[in-house]
Amino acid sequence: MNRNIIVLDTTLRDGEQVPGAKLNAQQKAEFARQLMRLRVDIIEAGFPASSKGDFQAVQEIARIAGERAAVTALARAVKGDIDAVYESVKLAQNPFIHIVLGTSDIHVERKFHRSKDAVLQMGVDAVKYAKSLLPQVQYSTEDASRSDFEYLWRTIESVVKAGATIINVPDTVGYAEPEQFGDLICRINERLKNINDNVILSVHCHNDLGLATANTLSAIKNGADKIECTINGLGERAGNASLEEVVMALRVREGHYRCTTNIEAKELTRTSRLLTYLTGLDVQVNKAITGDNAFAHSSGIHQDGLLKDKNVYEIISPEEVGAEKMELVLTARSGRHAFKHAVEKMGFDADDEQELEELFQKFIALADLKKEVYEPDIFYLVNSHREMS
Ligand code: KIV
Ligand code: ZN
Repeated sequence: MNRNIIVLDTTLRDGEQVPGAKLNAQQKAEFARQLMRLRVDIIEAGFPASSKGDFQAVQEIARIAGERAAVTALARAVKGDIDAVYESVKLAQNPFIHIVLGTSDIHVERKFHRSKDAVLQMGVDAVKYAKSLLPQVQYSTEDASRSDFEYLWRTIESVVKAGATIINVPDTVGYAEPEQFGDLICRINERLKNINDNVILSVHCHNDLGLATANTLSAIKNGADKIECTINGLGERAGNASLEEVVMALRVREGHYRCTTNIEAKELTRTSRLLTYLTGLDVQVNKAITGDNAFAHSSGIHQDGLLKDKNVYEIISPEEVGAEKMELVLTARSGRHAFKHAVEKMGFDADDEQELEELFQKFIALADLKKEVYEPDIFYLVNSHREMS
C-alpha cells in the first residue's frame, strides 16, 4: 500500500529569507491561501521573533488556515522565540512549534561556544518549555548531515524523551548526496522506531549542489514520512527542495516510490506564478515543472514525435500541473510536420503539398534570421505567398 507523505511548505519562512523576496502581511496571507488550494499539509508561516510584521503575518495565517492546513513557525531554542511562535500560531486549529538548534561540531563550537552536552541540554529545555504550551513540537537538528552520528542520535533521543513529536533532519548547507543522506535517514529511522513509533521523521534539504530534490526523494525511500519544500525551490542561497519537483517525481514514478501526497497538482503552476508575481523573482526558463520551457518543444524530431503521440516525448501532461497546453516552438530546427500543424492551427488549409513545401522553404529562411517564429509571422508568410501566387 502507498504511504502518504506529509508536505510542509516553507516558502513563507525559508523562501522569504532570500534577498528581495520579502513579502508584507497581506501578500503572505494571499500566498498562504493559495498554498491551501494546493493542499499542502503544513504551512511554515514565518519566523515571528524576527519582526513585528512577521509576527502579525504568522498570526493572520493561523487565523485563516482553519482545518485546511496545520500552521507552524520557527523558533531558536530560546524562550522568547518559543513564546513568539506560540502567541502567533495559537489561533490555528492545528498549530505546532518548530525549534531549531545545531548539532554539527562547527555549530556547537563556532556558533554556540559551548560544550556538546550544554547545547543538547538547551534543546531539551526548549522542547520541554514548548511542550508546556502546545502538544505538537518539531525539533530540527540543524546541519544534521555534517554532524557526528552518535551525538546527533543522542540529541534526537533526548528531545524525543522531552516530548518532541516531529524530528526534522536538515541538510542545512546542501552538503549531502542522495545515497549518504538516504543511509542517514535509514539509521535514524531504525533507532527512532525502537524508542517511539509515533514520532514523525522529516527532512529539509538545501540545493547548494543541485541535489535537494534527489536527497529528499532518497530520504523518502529510506523512511522519511514528512518533507519540507518550497515553491520554485526558493530558499537560502541556492534554495530548498522544490515542492513541485518532489511531488511530481512521486506522482510520475508512483510505482517506484509507492508514496503519494495530498497535493492538488493542478494548482502547481498557479502557485508558482503567484510567487513570481509577489516576489518579483523569476523562475529559470528550463526549471522542471514550473519553468516557461517545461512543456515547450522546439526540435523537429521531437515535434514530429509529439504530433504522432504526445507520450513519445512527454512524461507529464501540462494540464496535470495546471500549465497551458504543450507548446511547439517554431525555430529553424522545426520540421515540416510542426510547420503544417502551425499553419492549420491558424485556420489555413494546408493540403496542397507543393504549396506547403514552398511555404516551408520561406519559413526556414525566415527562421534562420530569427530566434523564434511567431504566429503573426506565419500569418504574414501564408497570406503574402498566396497574394503573390
Ligand atoms: O536549513 C535549515 O537547517 C533550516 C532549519 C530551520 C530547518 O532551515
Ligand atoms: Zn533551511
